[in-house]
Amino acid sequence: MTTNTPIHDVVREHYADRIKSSASCCGSDNCCDTSSTLYPVDLLTTVPTDVANTSYGCGDPITLASLTPGQTVLDLGSGAGLDCLLASQKVGATGHVIGVDMTPEMIERARENAQRVNAENVEFRQGYLENLPVESDSVDVVISNCVINLAPDKNQVFAEIVRVLKPGARLAVSDIVTDGELPDEMKKSLSAWAGCIAGALDVKDYQAMMESAGLTDIMITPTYFDKEMIDSVARDLGDSIDLKQYSQEGLYKTVFSAKISAHKK
Ligand SMILES: C[S@@+](CC[C@H](N)C(=O)[O-])C[C@H]1O[C@@H](n2cnc3c(N)ncnc32)[C@H](O)[C@@H]1O
Repeated sequence: MTTNTPIHDVVREHYADRIKSSASCCGSDNCCDTSSTLYPVDLLTTVPTDVANTSYGCGDPITLASLTPGQTVLDLGSGAGLDCLLASQKVGATGHVIGVDMTPEMIERARENAQRVNAENVEFRQGYLENLPVESDSVDVVISNCVINLAPDKNQVFAEIVRVLKPGARLAVSDIVTDGELPDEMKKSLSAWAGCIAGALDVKDYQAMMESAGLTDIMITPTYFDKEMIDSVARDLGDSIDLKQYSQEGLYKTVFSAKISAHKK
């Protein structure tokens, strides 16, 4: 059985291009916010500036996770490694951080970044969220930043999260979710999928999937609406979408970043 789908191919190519050109953020231009507005400044200054600025995320799972020394942390879709490096400082020499990403160019950059800061408690494994290269019941905290929305089979992703977490262990992620309908043209667009919009789940479906996978104490809190994210995807769609027929302001409020936490039962 192969995990890869045409959506994985489009997403992988999109992020390989982004890291090769070192452009930040999810969308074609600048759909997500920059790191300096996502994380507390004193957290970011603990890593080299270019590492701090290479974020493709939509939030700050590190602050949400409240990591402590000795924990084993798994970052889903670790990108260039920023969250793994920040997590590695929190869990210290007795802890361990694993970053998983399907894009070879991201894994390569993340390993270079870890080497530059001598982070010896971090490793990066190439693989899929839907088939994690991680032992069952081995992780204290799963973190992730703007990635679950990109996975085509989210039920499988949540099943994998529950498989790898220790009983009672935690999930702390930032992700894009929706509240209301998106235009059909956007839902069907692969570039809008890679731009973190088309694959975003309705917040109620997100919660229901987490519950049926075996997660509990679920908290989903909106953090910010991202006008630029919608505009970037709309620009890509060009004339195929007439945004005026949707209330533009309403559409901006349909897609938002959220901080999401839960425990494995
Ligand atoms: C929006 S970027 C976020 C990267 C990183 N979390 C950050 O905050 O900078 C999405 C990342 O997830 C990876 N990714 C997307 N879907 C994936 C999947 N199904 N399995 C593994 N990695 C995936 C991409 O290769 C990319 O590096």
